[in-house]
Amino acid sequence: MTTLETAKAQLETNGFLDIDTSNIDYIAEIKRLKKEKNAILLAHYYQIDEIQKIADFVGDSLALAQQAAKTDADMIIFAGVHFMAETAKILNPDKKVILPDLKAGCSLADSCPPEAFSEFKKQHPNHKVVTYINCSADIKALSDIVCTSSNARKIIDSFPENQPIIFAPDRNLGAYLNKETGRDMLLWDGACIVHEAFSMEKLIELVQKHPDAELIAHPESEAHMLKAAKYIGSTAGLLNHVKQSKKKKFIVATEVGILFQMMQDNPDKEIIAAPAKEDNTCACSECAFMKMNTLKKLYLCLKHELPNIEVDAELSKKAIIPIQRMLELS
Ligand code: 13P
Ligand code: SF4
Repeated sequence: MTTLETAKAQLETNGFLDIDTSNIDYIAEIKRLKKEKNAILLAHYYQIDEIQKIADFVGDSLALAQQAAKTDADMIIFAGVHFMAETAKILNPDKKVILPDLKAGCSLADSCPPEAFSEFKKQHPNHKVVTYINCSADIKALSDIVCTSSNARKIIDSFPENQPIIFAPDRNLGAYLNKETGRDMLLWDGACIVHEAFSMEKLIELVQKHPDAELIAHPESEAHMLKAAKYIGSTAGLLNHVKQSKKKKFIVATEVGILFQMMQDNPDKEIIAAPAKEDNTCACSECAFMKMNTLKKLYLCLKHELPNIEVDAELSKKAIIPIQRMLELS
């Protein structure tokens, strides 16, 4: 059984999500349980506002991994997606790491199956393997070093210029990094559905309506979006850029959850989410996986300490090496 299958079986056996909790004050209970169990709630900026508000720490992928590496809490409750909680578990094999919904996966991580990637790697034995943290533990175990969008440039620059590199799994981030570094890294053909959901047609209309707005984008976005953007950066990079910029209006091409923090940081600025191809309620791009976490699931997860993340000990020993290399370089 894979790690995910084991955890799924665990959740099915404990079918507690059907329990009626309508009389529960989730926020008060989450706070109480966190204290009682000495648990830390780590949340990504793509989580719903209510979760960001009660988290002990909100960060991008790099900051969350750094926080997970140094916490002295007994338990980590991860309001994010599976690969993030799995990374936290690899860094803390003796702690309990729980994730409110095991189905909170990631299209990017799923786009890189271990068997196929292992074959690809075998075909290029002279290459070092740099992988974006948005991948499974199996892929991390096949990597020389992990990176996030915040430190990818630095990690790649740490290799000699003539070192051939495989970059996986994000083809958009990889192509952007090839352009930035002047390298010719071999790219795995994976992508994030959220960052490929933007509509150029609708964006042009929006820019015509707001000619004074600056377009900023996450590097997981497609090349045509990145070409149009005036600033490209990771979640933390985008937040810092808007804070420091003298501009008053921004169109933001990334997952819409970032707007909560951006608006709090910049009450005097107008922040507009870049439009998605599909018509949906937010008229923007939302990560359905990140949004699977709710206050109810968070409460139940803390109460029952399930579903918990398990990583095979041998796999964990291999996967921690490239993660620690990244943390040392960051
Ligand atoms: P960062 O948090 O590194 O910006 O990555 C964005 C993302 O897609 C997380 O899943
Ligand atoms: Fe994965 Fe994209 Fe969602 Fe991030 S935003 S978790 S990369 S699907």
